[in-house]
Amino acid sequence: MSDIKTIGVLTSGGDAPGMNAAIRAIVRTAIAEGKSVKGIKWGYEGLMKGEVTDLDADDVFGINRKGGTVLYTSRSDEFKTEKGMTKAVKTIQENKIDALVVIGGDGSFRGARDLSKRGVPVIGIPGTIDMDISCTDYTIGFDTAVNTAMEAIDKVSDSSTSHGRCSVIEVMGRKTGYIALWAGMASGADDIILPEKWEGNYDTLMNHILERRAQGKNNHIVVIAEGVEDSPSLAKKIKEYTGIESRVSVLGYIQRGGSPTATDRMYASFMGAYAVEVLCKGRKNRIVAMNNGKFVDYEIDEALNMKKSLNSFQYELSLKLSR
Ligand code: F6P
Repeated sequence: MSDIKTIGVLTSGGDAPGMNAAIRAIVRTAIAEGKSVKGIKWGYEGLMKGEVTDLDADDVFGINRKGGTVLYTSRSDEFKTEKGMTKAVKTIQENKIDALVVIGGDGSFRGARDLSKRGVPVIGIPGTIDMDISCTDYTIGFDTAVNTAMEAIDKVSDSSTSHGRCSVIEVMGRKTGYIALWAGMASGADDIILPEKWEGNYDTLMNHILERRAQGKNNHIVVIAEGVEDSPSLAKKIKEYTGIESRVSVLGYIQRGGSPTATDRMYASFMGAYAVEVLCKGRKNRIVAMNNGKFVDYEIDEALNMKKSLNSFQYELSLKLSR
């Protein structure tokens, strides 16, 4: 059993739809267990500055359907320094926070791990639209981001058909292609370019565009993950090589906002509740994850050392479906 009385919670890194549902679940399940909860605003920046507020059950009323994070977030360089860490630990001690739940991505978990080395019990909950956390099959916000991207691709596709164009649509994902793969497949894209797979084979891409045109397909949708290559220059190459008019749409931050899907609200709620349960059982320094449909938790260093590769079944299927 645990001797934790007060749980702190913060969101860190890029915001993700569903983070609020996780906060709500943490607050309400912790209170049900007789614990109190303190929210830290602005992620690790706010932790260093002492931006701490009490959270009770009423404070989180209705937030599960809101996009963004009610606790706000930040990316902090100062927190990575010794001075920043010292300030953060001081805030935790002054506010009598016994354990900290961090909702964020890998960078945020590294910060949490550094706090745990200074004696602060931590739990990480994966919150990022990118789905790039190795230990888990699900991250909060991915489902909403994919749905947002899919709807946007569908709309661009309508216009692309009307004009007989090729459309290059860039989606987020940092260094990974999960959003591109899922949104591209779901919307029936003709080509999906992923950082994990792209070897710069322009001939294959251009020939595919020409083949599809010869088959009578009026438009051609290329979904590209950010960071693979500059999407305007790819559109220019397509026009030069194929003669087909090409346009670029960079979807950008719309993928991070908006009301979370039911899946994100539900899984985020499960993960928030699971994090509290882990702490109540007296465990600490763990990352919550979902594997094969079950919620589990890993020791933080073990989780950070795991490697993730693109799902090859999904990738191979995407190739078959777009031919
Ligand atoms: O991690 C989420 C994400 O939106 C990535 O897809 C993107 O590369 C990055 O954050 C953008 O970060 P920032 O909001 O700091 O510009």
